[in-house]
Amino acid sequence: MEMPIIRVHNLHRDFTMGDQVVHALDGIDLEVNEGDFLAVMGPSGSGKSTLLYLLGGLDRPTAGEIWVGGRDIVLLDENDLATYRGQEVGFVFQAFHLVPTMTALQNVEFPMVFNRTPPAERRKRAQALLERMGLSDRMGHKPTELSGGQQQRVAIARALANDPRIILADEPTGNLDTRTGQEVLDLLTHLNREEGRTIVIVSHDPSVTRFVTRDIHLLDGRIVERGL
Ligand SMILES: Nc1ncnc2c1ncn2[C@@H]1O[C@H](COP(=O)(O)OP(=O)(O)OP(=O)(O)O)[C@@H](O)[C@H]1O
Ligand SMILES: [Mg+2]
Repeated sequence: MEMPIIRVHNLHRDFTMGDQVVHALDGIDLEVNEGDFLAVMGPSGSGKSTLLYLLGGLDRPTAGEIWVGGRDIVLLDENDLATYRGQEVGFVFQAFHLVPTMTALQNVEFPMVFNRTPPAERRKRAQALLERMGLSDRMGHKPTELSGGQQQRVAIARALANDPRIILADEPTGNLDTRTGQEVLDLLTHLNREEGRTIVIVSHDPSVTRFVTRDIHLLDGRIVERGL
């Protein structure tokens, strides 16, 4: 039986700009099952990133519930939410967001500093992750010394550092050429199929639907279409 790992109920996120209120999310109901590879599609401004950030505890909703692993993360205090972000989800962004002064290895080790993984273990795990991403010979390189595809693979390794069950990816291929983008999607597919990780990917590229198990479409902060 499929189990929801994420359950979202009546989620709202308003942004107030002066005397204007933008309803970025306007009543989202969504279940993501363990092992799903879900694409969140929709035009620019439809609320895709807002939804992803809320799922990852990077932002707080105006109203609604976000149940992950049996508890509503909306009710967590800042400390527990930080732990949630660090341990239970891994983020991959369009612009990679690596720390520019750190090497690839240090970037991947970074999330493990916060949950007090011993340094030797940290190093070993970061090396293993970078090897799996095909970057054995780039561990000492800084982000500016890497190609876009290599930077994104470092970011994926970093997202896996604390072994999260959920990966959240916001336009991870947006800054890459088609072929490199496909490689990143292949990697995510592997993490889903072979490792059973639940993945939510935001994209407005229709070709992404070939890789995923389900897709939803947003428009003006609402789900207007649910694919298979
Ligand atoms: N921090 C913010 N302050 C004010 N308005 C915001 C903020 N973040 C998002 N919005 C607004 O909320 C709406 C949804 O934004 P969001 O970034 O979720 O869209 P998106 O679907 O990810 O678009 P894109 O495909 O361009 O990335 C937009 O109208 C946007 O202007
Ligand atoms: Mg966005």
